Amino acid sequence: MSVETERLSPNPVGLSRAAHFLRSGGLVAFPTETVYGLGADASDDRAVARVFEAKGRPRFNPLIVHVVDLQGARALVDWSPIADRLASAFWPGPLTLVLPLAKHAPISPLVTGGLSTLAVRVPDHPGARALLQEFGAPIAAPSANPSGRLSPTMADHVAEALAGQIEAILDAGDCTLGLESTIVGLSDTPRLLRPGGLPSEVIERAIGAPLAGAGDGINAPGQLSSHYAPRSRLRLNATASRQGEKMLGFGAVDGDLTLSSNGDLVEAAAQLFRHLHTLDASDAAAIAVAPVPEKGLGRAINDRLRRAASERHEEATN
Ligand code: TXA
Ligand code: MG
Repeated sequence: MSVETERLSPNPVGLSRAAHFLRSGGLVAFPTETVYGLGADASDDRAVARVFEAKGRPRFNPLIVHVVDLQGARALVDWSPIADRLASAFWPGPLTLVLPLAKHAPISPLVTGGLSTLAVRVPDHPGARALLQEFGAPIAAPSANPSGRLSPTMADHVAEALAGQIEAILDAGDCTLGLESTIVGLSDTPRLLRPGGLPSEVIERAIGAPLAGAGDGINAPGQLSSHYAPRSRLRLNATASRQGEKMLGFGAVDGDLTLSSNGDLVEAAAQLFRHLHTLDASDAAAIAVAPVPEKGLGRAINDRLRRAASERHEEATN
């Protein structure tokens, strides 16, 4: 997909154009105090799928959702006293909190990679804040670099790497920190999931206790347990369902549900977690999944399907 990438200024005309793109499923890069983010409407499955496509990410890593203030965050997650302490000390700023996703939060399952937790942050950059204000809803945004490349800290970095793939770049100056946000998991004991722009010592002082490491305790190294795993057995590369199975189709291979009947990989990515959850909730003996081509977004889809097939949980743990 090739689009003309508009360079927008953070004035009323530019901001309204940027918000218009987000509302119509477009992608808009914007500066935060850490790095430039590649933004999409967090409730729009297809727009979020396009983020992964533009980045060429081989995996559906979950994305951080950006909101304008505390209220915006509290509407999306199950809040806690520690979250309150950290948010009032460090927001807006380079701290991301991972909390249980609230029921009925308007967040595409592709944002969380099908997980039951959500990463949220309130950025502290006038460009990001003006865009969030103007759009009026949560924006999902990974760093605006192609997968495997350095995170961008200037609008020019984004233009060099992503022009032609995204609708707009909000050029509101450089990022001051140049280092991604620190990510703290609060869904069990407070845990440092990624070091970043806010030093962990400062966070520990605010909590009054040390942070656990990403690999400590129940969370296996490599964040194994943080992958979405269905309870049903998955049978991949199936061309037809067997007795007792539910079938997830793709392209010419039909099913009880289909990822995309015309073989569109962006649509397939957009539907993946929603359909897996739906089929998993039926009492099928197994879920048969049609073959998905190993190209473009198909790689990330297959990566996630293979993990889901091999990391089946008897009891969903998160
Ligand atoms: O500073 C930043 O955080 C920048 C700006 C744009 O906000 N964003 C950023 O996003 O660095 P990204 O996608 O490059 O990194 C997000 C990290 C990933 O490593 C992802 O695995 C983790 O956040 N993450 C997101 N949701 C998560 C969740 N529910 N549980 C655990 N980790 C999560
Ligand atoms: Mg990144």
